[in-house]
Amino acid sequence: MLPESVRIVEVGPRDGLQNEKDVVPLAAKVALIEALSEAGLSTIEAGSFVSPKWVPQMANTEDVLRRIIRRSGTRYPVLVPNLKGLDAALAAPQVEEIAVFAAASEAFSKKNINCSIAESLDRLAEVTEKAKDHGLAVRGYVSCVLGCPYEGAVPIAKVAEVAEALDAMGCYEVSLGDTIGVGTPLKARAMVEAVAERIPLGRLAAHFHDTYGMALANLLEVLRLGVSVVDSSVSGLGGCPYAKGATGNVATEDVVYMLNGMGIHSGVDLDKLCAAGAAISATLGRDPASRVARVFAAKEE
Ligand code: HMG
Ligand code: MG
Repeated sequence: MLPESVRIVEVGPRDGLQNEKDVVPLAAKVALIEALSEAGLSTIEAGSFVSPKWVPQMANTEDVLRRIIRRSGTRYPVLVPNLKGLDAALAAPQVEEIAVFAAASEAFSKKNINCSIAESLDRLAEVTEKAKDHGLAVRGYVSCVLGCPYEGAVPIAKVAEVAEALDAMGCYEVSLGDTIGVGTPLKARAMVEAVAERIPLGRLAAHFHDTYGMALANLLEVLRLGVSVVDSSVSGLGGCPYAKGATGNVATEDVVYMLNGMGIHSGVDLDKLCAAGAAISATLGRDPASRVARVFAAKEE
């Protein structure tokens, strides 16, 4: 069973750029988000309200939100780790949705947000409650669902437990993050099947990084199970600041090319998407990680 259509959650402006050492100019971030919405992406994670000491690159998220020209029907969620981040999001212009995140690995939780999994879930329950009181939609992430940079293998039961906790606190969707891109298809399938015993498949999303080049294969496997929401990052930008060596998310261009080839609707214009990726890659001074984007760039020459 494959879905007829897939909703892509574009995380490039947040997950993609958060790991950049040099400050990406505000105008380039704004242009990227606008180009992505122009390409037809209906959900674009625009930034995060985390500690600027931990992730300096996201320090100007409020400015980004103030500057972007919004496209009607497009959602621009922001990532929030705690109540302080939520308050900043509530004070920022036109935030209608936040994303909260917890890990399935204790060591990663400590490195990424400086607290245990249990503490983070208590914290996020408060954040989610307050966000919903203010009318915001809340999406949840589970990190390290197919492995942890510090602990190695992560028990599937722990992934399901954390996902269920996020679902129970009111996240409308839980995104399962292979943060370091170590997964392989059968493991990805087993993990999603285990989570789907507790949360309906229709409320799950796949968030696969492409470190070992397995992300598309893993995605196909979970699409066959019926997952129909996929997180990806234009040009495969990114990596996690607290997962050394991990590369970016699966490239949006590669996902759209695969979906197009299988007749699955995403609503994304691949030419415009490649142009958006080419522009941010030029700003960053590197070639896109996406194989599809490189073919499109060669055709342009
Ligand atoms: P902490 O040091 O334990 O927190 O960090 P604290 O409460 O002691 O605060 C320390 C300082 O940060 C204080 O400032 C706070 O005011 C400030 P000081 O008094 O020293 O001047 N602070 C904040 N400032 C702005 N916004 C805030 C905020 N909170 C505190 N929200 C904390 C704990 C959670 C804040 C920190 O660890 C943090 O910000 N971590 C975020 C790390 C991060 O962004 N990681 C990447 C995103 S997760 C990811 O990429 C995975 C994902 O893509 C899925 C996947 O791939 O699996 C989602
Ligand atoms: Mg990620």
